[in-house]
Amino acid sequence: MIAPDRPRRSALYLPASNARAIEKARTLPADVVILDLEDAVAPEAKDAARDAAVEAVNAGGFGHREVAIRANGLDTPWGEADLAAIAGSAADAVLVPKVSSPADIAACDAALAGAPAGMQLWAMIETCAAIAQLDALAACARTTRLSLWIMGVNDLAKEMRAQLTPERTPFLPLLSLAVCAARSHGVTILDGVCNEFRDLGVFEAEARQGLLYGFDGKSLIHPAQVEVANAVFSPSAAELARAQAVIAAFALPENAGKGAIQVDGRMAELLHLEQARRLVALAEAIGAFN
Ligand code: COA
Ligand code: MG
Repeated sequence: MIAPDRPRRSALYLPASNARAIEKARTLPADVVILDLEDAVAPEAKDAARDAAVEAVNAGGFGHREVAIRANGLDTPWGEADLAAIAGSAADAVLVPKVSSPADIAACDAALAGAPAGMQLWAMIETCAAIAQLDALAACARTTRLSLWIMGVNDLAKEMRAQLTPERTPFLPLLSLAVCAARSHGVTILDGVCNEFRDLGVFEAEARQGLLYGFDGKSLIHPAQVEVANAVFSPSAAELARAQAVIAAFALPENAGKGAIQVDGRMAELLHLEQARRLVALAEAIGAFN
């Protein structure tokens, strides 16, 4: 059986300086909670936010949710202290912003040398320089703690001076290339945030676009987005029925040893069997959350 990828359909950011949001995150059905020390926290509040984030992860209460802390970059006045504090905490992962080269990943990995063995390194892909060397960045997963990427579309738009519209046209090639690079090195990849948190129609369309492009889930900024993202990135009933039919058909004695068969009028190859098993394993892992 294929080992199920851990479901990361919904990854909710919140400012670590917002105690009410942290309390609320413990009850929301997000697969991942990201306590932010970076863009969502003002310079004057950075030190207090770092203390609050570490205190919150150490206090626990997040149930099955994975908890990450997003640090400030190592090129800022706070980055080093952030990574040192997170390394000594119970966080599942540290998310580092604006990585642009394998050397950036290596520096973050080195800063986590004393962290628990299971602590993961997650990276934001949000600079033009990162886009220029996606493959080299993803390849770092083979030799460091790196295991997951999150697209930072707001920062990319700023650097590119491109316009972030609901269609996201200027970003689509970059999203595709990032998915390919991540997949080729076994890195999980989550889509960027949708700033329109009051309009769930706009949000759902963007989440569906992320699913279409191959993302494992979406990063979120507001509680209202969580259930929509979970629904979009969960296998649908129709997809599951097709997957079960493909698995059942390949298990028939008359199909033993075959590479391509027909299932309900459509071709299924062994690659589709693999996809079907992955989908069923993902659905089971999601079921275990409920
Ligand atoms: N996580 C958890 N709880 C959140 C939340 C989040 N990201 N955003 C809002 N909430 C809570 C609020 O505290 C409020 O709680 P209440 O039920 O006790 O009143 C409730 O959800 C409703 O919030 P609402 O009034 O709709 O939002 P707002 O206007 O207060 O805040 C934002 C809007 C965008 C400022 C806020 O959602 C936010 O800070 N989002 C995350 C920003 C971030 O982390 N950015 C960095 C990554 S891009
Ligand atoms: Mg940013």
